[in-house]
Amino acid sequence: MNAQPYLSQLFSLDGRVALVTGGSSGIGRAIAGALARAGAGVVVVARREDQLIATIDELTSEGCRAGWVSGDLGSRDGVRAAAEAAAAVFGEPDILVNSADVNLRPPMDELGEDVWDTTMTVNLEAPFLLGQRFGPGMAERGFGRIIHVTSQQAHRAFVRSGAYGVSKGALESLARSQAEAWSPYGVTCNTLVPGFVMTPLNARLSSDPEKVAALAERTMVGRNGLAEDFAGAAVWLAGRSSAYVTGQSIHVDGGFSVH
Ligand SMILES: NC(=O)c1ccc[n+]([C@@H]2O[C@H](COP(=O)([O-])OP(=O)(O)OC[C@H]3O[C@@H](n4cnc5c(N)ncnc54)[C@H](OP(=O)(O)O)[C@@H]3O)[C@@H](O)[C@H]2O)c1
Repeated sequence: MNAQPYLSQLFSLDGRVALVTGGSSGIGRAIAGALARAGAGVVVVARREDQLIATIDELTSEGCRAGWVSGDLGSRDGVRAAAEAAAAVFGEPDILVNSADVNLRPPMDELGEDVWDTTMTVNLEAPFLLGQRFGPGMAERGFGRIIHVTSQQAHRAFVRSGAYGVSKGALESLARSQAEAWSPYGVTCNTLVPGFVMTPLNARLSSDPEKVAALAERTMVGRNGLAEDFAGAAVWLAGRSSAYVTGQSIHVDGGFSVH
């Protein structure tokens, strides 16, 4: 028996177009790679060109369809400009992944309006504006997948969550509102919820072996997350076989959240 046709029917992203913010590093990069290897044309949005080029070179060298846009999601105009530039690469996206974030964590007493504003703009407003830009078109075409990357800090305080945790909690609420609006038209909206994943985002914490080991112990699997752990969940959520899953927060955390 050849399982390939059945697997393709469930999971292939052939012919789809995906936009992945923060797709040049860490979890976003792993998701962008997974979607591209599953057949989607993928456009990656972030600021640093060298990281973008390295990501896209890796994918195109494997025969994937991939492009990049250098854009700053730290202002509403920046988000709008990045959205238009991204849509110009392979056309309007069928799949939108919001993985870009900022992770600023001053003590609560010192959390100023600047940190609050930056955090909310990149972590919450950008996903909202990109949803407003692309969600209605997906609904009109009868297929869409919006995937936000949130955090365990949407559910619990953790090492001075501050504005970051608030932005992630609101992002999960946004996913439910988007799901309510567009699911009747074939557009699902869900969030992937990481625990602790060794990426450049948390370089400082990752460099403390004792803390890293203590965090690994809090999982059920017995290790911290890797960016690659998100590949399968992202392909599934981006494809047709997850059509009946919407408005959900899916923890990819080795059991961290339930231990
Ligand atoms: N790693 C973890 O333990 C962990 C845990 C919970 C949740 N998460 C979530 O997972 C997602 C990915 O995190 P990660 O660990 O993979 O982070 P990462 O490796 O630091 O990647 C962050 C990405 O966002 C981009 N970015 C940041 N600010 C931007 C801006 N203003 N405009 C455009 N792009 C911007 C970065 O590229 P440029 O800097 O070049 O712009 C980079 O591509 C985030 O939403 C994060 O909150 C991670």
